Amino acid sequence: MTKNIVLIGFMGTGKSSCGKSLATRLGCAFIDLDKYIESKEKMSIPEIFAAKGEAYFREKEREAVREVVQRKGAVIATGGGTIKDEENFAAMKERGVIVCLSADVDTILQRTARRGERPMLDAQVDRRKAIENLLASRKAMYARADFTVDTSNLSPMQVTEEIVGFLRVGGMIRA
Ligand code: S3P
Repeated sequence: MTKNIVLIGFMGTGKSSCGKSLATRLGCAFIDLDKYIESKEKMSIPEIFAAKGEAYFREKEREAVREVVQRKGAVIATGGGTIKDEENFAAMKERGVIVCLSADVDTILQRTARRGERPMLDAQVDRRKAIENLLASRKAMYARADFTVDTSNLSPMQVTEEIVGFLRVGGMIRA
């Protein structure tokens, strides 16, 4: 496999857990974009947002995308807002297959309930409304993926098998 498999999708759709599971299943490297940024910046994502703001985070995110897409045959889990940036999308698309993970609002609400981890949601009073609004504004961007899996009622292993099935049918893997 020479292309990367890039997981996009909203917060709480399972990009990190499914990405890890998929990389293990395919025997390839796994890169979590948020973790990559955190280790470069030596700060957690909420710390970066609090100390330097969203614009700075997006700048670092853009740099990180440029770097990680150079890999070949890796599974890359992006952050929920990574593909808002047209250049990020183009860079990932050029060197990868884009797989979107989705979930319904109740599932997202439940999976992102813990405070202190998701600055985009913590900043809002009504969390459900914040999720609905952000989802609506990003819907068209997520829809540009090559393949989408609704993870609401699936385990990471089941999601992995769905993605493997898609890759196999497309001739991208033989596993
Ligand atoms: C963000 C999602 C987060 C992280 C940052 C911004 C977003 O990643 O990149 O907090 O704008 O949706 P996860 O989708 O992994 O939570």
